Amino acid sequence: MVVARGAAARQAPEPAATGDAGRVPAHVAIIMDGNGRWAAARDLPRVAGHRAGAQAVRRTIEAAIRNGVTWLTLYAFSSENWRRPVSEVLDLTGLLRHYLRNEVAELARQGVRLRFIGDLSRFDPDVQADLRAAARDTAANTRLNLTIALSYGARAEIVEAARRIAAAARSGTLDPAGLDEAAFGAMLTTDGIPDPDLVLRTSGEQRLSNFLLWQAAYAELLFLDVLWPDFAEQHFVAALEQFARRERRFGARPG
Ligand code: IPE
Ligand code: IPE
Ligand code: MG
Repeated sequence: MVVARGAAARQAPEPAATGDAGRVPAHVAIIMDGNGRWAAARDLPRVAGHRAGAQAVRRTIEAAIRNGVTWLTLYAFSSENWRRPVSEVLDLTGLLRHYLRNEVAELARQGVRLRFIGDLSRFDPDVQADLRAAARDTAANTRLNLTIALSYGARAEIVEAARRIAAAARSGTLDPAGLDEAAFGAMLTTDGIPDPDLVLRTSGEQRLSNFLLWQAAYAELLFLDVLWPDFAEQHFVAALEQFARRERRFGARPG
């Protein structure tokens, strides 16, 4: 089996249904978009779309495990999403609370390791405590590395890294001449997580909306017309098949 780059890729089990060449992305990152439009199309309140979106999260985690993807990152809430109406923000944080209380034990049973990236300090203290507990209680799991981006914005993440680097340089613990891409990357919240091989976005929008701007430098991008609550294993498998057909060059050309 030919797999994508990275140590994580080498641990990937044989894929169940990846289509042609069997080249499985080690790390799939997903911009889960379209909950509101899904609800509007059914004359339902937006929160119904977010609830249905949570079901799609469950299906996607299972699809990742079944298809040999070992790193999955889900964009659940952006730093800009705080600007939505208070009622929607409350619905979303309420769903997050519910998800953490009711789903983490099952994820742990499935061998999922949970990580969270983003400015978690903006959540209520009880949610922060649940996030910490979920990460701690699943830290020994290795079957699927699931990262959930919450209150996440790539620019804020990069600025925060720059701020810490500047402070370290000023205090003399870091030599600016020694700063390279690996050292900079290690200052990001994704330290220890391989770069995504495939970034996919549902809902038909074709933009990154401030997601993993540094980490996705050489990711393959895929925009799907399906709304997130309708996302199912067949879409995931089709995305893996598309990935397998892409030629990744990383700027080089055959000599
Ligand atoms: C994605 O669905 C979920 C979040 C961003 C929290 P949206 O709520 O953005 O749904 P649309 O884009 O309005 O359809
Ligand atoms: C991106 O979706 C953020 C998440 C999916 C969590 P948005 O719906 O917030 O993005 P824009 O506003 O369409 O760019
Ligand atoms: Mg949206």
